[in-house]
Amino acid sequence: MNFFIDTANLDQIKEANDLGILDGVTTNPSLMAKEGIKGEEAIMEHYKTICSIVDGPVSAEVISTDFDGIIAEGKKLAKIHDNIVVKVPMIKDGIKAIKWFTENEINTNCTLVFSAGQAILAAKAGATFLSPFIGRIDDSNWDGVELIKQIVDIYNTQGYPTAVLAASIRNPLHIVKCAEAGADVCTCPLDSILGLLKHPLTDIGLAKFLEDAKSLK
Ligand code: E4P
Repeated sequence: MNFFIDTANLDQIKEANDLGILDGVTTNPSLMAKEGIKGEEAIMEHYKTICSIVDGPVSAEVISTDFDGIIAEGKKLAKIHDNIVVKVPMIKDGIKAIKWFTENEINTNCTLVFSAGQAILAAKAGATFLSPFIGRIDDSNWDGVELIKQIVDIYNTQGYPTAVLAASIRNPLHIVKCAEAGADVCTCPLDSILGLLKHPLTDIGLAKFLEDAKSLK
C-alpha cells in the first residue's frame, strides 16, 4: 500500500517525505484554505512547491462543478507538473470530465466517494484514483473500512485498474485496517502516520536496552 500525506502544509509534507516512506500528496480546498493560500497564482505556486518536495502523485482539486469549468481548471493544473493528478468531485459533470481527462491522458482522482455505486461509475470513466472518505462515513455511524473492502472486491472482480485511495483517515488504526482491506493507497494526516510508530512496549524495551548498554562502555 502506498502512503500519501493529506495536507497542504509544507513543513508536514517535508517531515513525512524525510521519513522516506512518502509516495504522494493529496490536498483539497479546505486544506489549502487552512494554509492561507489565496488567489490562482499563489495556488499554482504552492502546487509547484509541493511537486518539488515529493516525487509522486500530487492531487490538486478543481473548484468548478460544470464540465467546461472542470476541464479548463484541470488543464491548467495538469500543466504545473507531470505529477499533478486532477481531483474531481463525484458529480455528473465530474464523471464526464474524468472520461475526458482519461481520453486526454491526464490523471484523475475522483473525490467525495461514499458508495460502491459511485466507485463503479468512476472506474468506468477511467479514474486513476478513487477516494472513498472513510472517516466521514464512520462519523455518520457507518463502517468506512467495509466500503473499502467492498470496492476492492468489485474492482478485483471486474478488473478495473482504478486505484483505491482510502481518504479521510482519522487515526493509525484506519491505516492498518485499510492495508488489510487491500487499499492501494492511504492518504493520511501526519499525526496518523507518526501514530504507527507508537507502542508502549517499544518505549519500555528501548529504555531497558539503553540502561543495560551503559554497562557495556
Ligand atoms: C483527501 O483526499 C480528502 O479530501 C480528505 O482526506 C478529507 O478528509 P477529512 O474528512 O478529514 O476532511
